[in-house]
Amino acid sequence: MSDGLKQAQEKMRAAGVADEAITVFSHYYGELESGATGMIPEDSIDPVAEPTLIADVEIGEEEQRAAFARTAIIKLNGGLGTSMGMDKAKSLLPVRDGQSFLDLIVTQVRAAREQWGVDLPLLFMNSFRTSEDTLAALSGYDGLEVGGLGLEFVQNQEPKLRADDLAPVEWPADPTLEWCPPGHGDLYTALAASGVLERLLAAGYRYASVSNSDNLGAAPNPKIAAWFAASGAPYAAELCRRTPADVKGGHLAIRKSDGRLILRETAQTPKEDMHYFTDESRHPYFHTNNLWFDLEVLDATLKERHAVLGLPLIKNEKTVDPADSSSPAVIQLESAMGAAVEVFEGATCLGVGRERFLPVKTTNDLLLLRSDVYEVGGDGRLTRVADPAPLIDLDPSFYKTIGKFEQRFPAGAPSLKRAKSLTVRGDWTFERGVVVEGAGELPDQGSPEVVATGALISG
Ligand code: UTP
Repeated sequence: MSDGLKQAQEKMRAAGVADEAITVFSHYYGELESGATGMIPEDSIDPVAEPTLIADVEIGEEEQRAAFARTAIIKLNGGLGTSMGMDKAKSLLPVRDGQSFLDLIVTQVRAAREQWGVDLPLLFMNSFRTSEDTLAALSGYDGLEVGGLGLEFVQNQEPKLRADDLAPVEWPADPTLEWCPPGHGDLYTALAASGVLERLLAAGYRYASVSNSDNLGAAPNPKIAAWFAASGAPYAAELCRRTPADVKGGHLAIRKSDGRLILRETAQTPKEDMHYFTDESRHPYFHTNNLWFDLEVLDATLKERHAVLGLPLIKNEKTVDPADSSSPAVIQLESAMGAAVEVFEGATCLGVGRERFLPVKTTNDLLLLRSDVYEVGGDGRLTRVADPAPLIDLDPSFYKTIGKFEQRFPAGAPSLKRAKSLTVRGDWTFERGVVVEGAGELPDQGSPEVVATGALISG
């Protein structure tokens, strides 16, 4: 065993990291040392056939209720929204009328419980960085927890590795930065190691419905639960039809060597194959990161494989302090939750409507969600009232990070429901009641400017 791995294992043991997580980390460390790149060239895969569409499925109410009654909702909430310059959970950000992503998720779950008469446990997968804030924000809700399951399980932490010698990095200036969460593929390990998987099974739950906490489109859905239960599949991924604007987002494919369904992400696509990756006629559906799995099958598989599901490694190269590009280069060993499609024999997929995919990855997405392009119902669901949604392009120099963005929209988002697009270059602060129509554009004036109260931007 290499020195770097030995040191990393000792560091994890000393910090009280679960044995399962150390085993999984060691597996990935081995892959890293053996030079695994995780690349999936186009000539090694075939496109997937047209999936079943949920819109075409007919299922009675009783079947829906029965499957829903055995479903637990899990929200991935361990990431930090670093692409928006955040160092806490993105789900704490207000979306509407002071309600955060978390508040809207709670409203969605409570509305589903009430409407269908089911318990529907809600569990957040937090990381050591998001747990405290999230629980504090949820503490105001009575009766949210069901059956003593708690409201969260905390994912594992692992050492960041020095890029030069793969030893755990030391950063005395802020030792918390020596650690990272292992990507959302850690879901399966964390669910088991925390004991939550066992408790869910003991309480009679059979299905998990998992989605990102920044995707408010992924509301609890009894029809999909019933379809999944009836399919008998161990695992299913929700897919959406790609439009020409959807150039990001992984896709499923069939691996030629063994006929397995696999997930291919941008980072796993060789540069010379990127035009295939984004070709909506070759790979017409993208992966939403909403997925379903059978808790019993997961439990059996983890036991059989001694905790190692063997999801493909994602080698994430960063600096130890993400805010300081001159700090030492590190490697984070990660995996993606959706890659589990290749692990479960008989895994499948389902085509769902675009309304189930509403992620907030950038402040452009956040501005749209805060605007009148969406209406929020009493059940916490968002309905888009403009079709299609306008394209938002804010100047990254002044709006990319959440702090800068908030400063420039102190009175909230402008009206965007009659806009085709909004392009902002330079530093503009929006006062109250601004309306955008058509292709709105603000050019760079070279100095800070104000869009006055009630102004109309039209193009
Ligand atoms: P992403 O990595 O796509 O989301 O994770 P992000 O939060 O936008 O990340 P940045 O901006 O690149 O930092 C998708 C979902 O998975 C969760 C995130 O919280 C998000 O809801 N996640 C990610 C975890 O729960 N744990 C992880 O280790 C990583």
